[in-house]
Amino acid sequence: MVRGCGAYLPKRVVTNEELALKVDTSDDWIRQRSGIRQRYIAADGELTSDIATAAARAALEDAGLDPGDIDLIVLATATPDHTFPSTATMVQANLGMQHGAAFDIQAVCSGFVYALATADSFLRSGQFGRALVIGAETFSRILDWEDRTTCVLFGDGGGALVLEAEEQPGTNGDRGVLVSKIRSDGRFKDMLYVDGGPSSTQTVGYLRMEGKDVFRQAVTLLSEVVEEALDAAGLTAADVDWFVPHQANQRIIDAMARKLSLPSERVVSTIAKHANTSAASIPLALRSAIDEQKIQTGQLVLMEAMGGGFTWGASLIRW
Ligand code: UT7
Repeated sequence: MVRGCGAYLPKRVVTNEELALKVDTSDDWIRQRSGIRQRYIAADGELTSDIATAAARAALEDAGLDPGDIDLIVLATATPDHTFPSTATMVQANLGMQHGAAFDIQAVCSGFVYALATADSFLRSGQFGRALVIGAETFSRILDWEDRTTCVLFGDGGGALVLEAEEQPGTNGDRGVLVSKIRSDGRFKDMLYVDGGPSSTQTVGYLRMEGKDVFRQAVTLLSEVVEEALDAAGLTAADVDWFVPHQANQRIIDAMARKLSLPSERVVSTIAKHANTSAASIPLALRSAIDEQKIQTGQLVLMEAMGGGFTWGASLIRW
């Protein structure tokens, strides 16, 4: 079950207007095409591991637990501090943990759904008892700030859940992760990628995206995987209390809500404030929905995400 949820955003807010002073864009264009109004940008020297550690600490506090109570850290990020060691081990050290295991998951914007699926499998197998599942990114570091088609869309931040293994009856009324479905198809690699890497260019590279093509695929792929997740749990969209999608574009979120016949009151959208924070967007949205007294114990939360690869997936959590 979910024991706690935490989030962290860097201090600096960059509005669309501020961006429009640097690149040939406008607040109108960004808002109309994506729903974004502002994004948070990490300070110089503020690393993905710092953001992840702050989110993890907030989740632990929410859970009323200490780092000593956790034995697994799964961290989703596409913007690690270093090529290696993993950012998860940096977080482990920051938390003062000298036990258990910590590793990164790389599935870009789908990272949190992949991390949740991975941590849940380990908890179900009995290998670990409590996990920190973190999504944290500093996408500002891999943006080409001269490319207006991408730099206006992303932001930095992090969020985390504490998951705890617990014996349950095995019905769709159980608390915790009910179902995870993850998918990928590497044939789409050229639609969304970073043009660098240790093996290919020995540089970090910049994010490149064929936005229109990604947009076209998103709703089809996401609808299929959401349907599969609901079917596997013996549930329908009508059972969903809160839809917490990856925050890439308000128009994708709206199209998904329409397909699922979910009224906008049950859709959590943070894209206006956070922009697209990749693997961090879902846990950031979960925390903001909790802060707004939306998600309550026993309610059904549907999450979905799609990103570079392509990777995509959906999760159902009974809170
Ligand atoms: O999280 C990972 C998954 N990522 C996504 O899901 C992103 C999916 N894609 C999208 O969200 C949208 O495709 C975008 C927001 C990236 C773009 O929206 P669009 O409606 O597909 O616009 P477009 O790319 O077709 O661009 C329309 C026009 C173009 O001008 P022309 O060719 O029509 O003259 C662009 O050059 O808008 C122009 N444009 C801009 N104008 C002002 C592109 N970027 C900007 C900009 N400001 N920042």
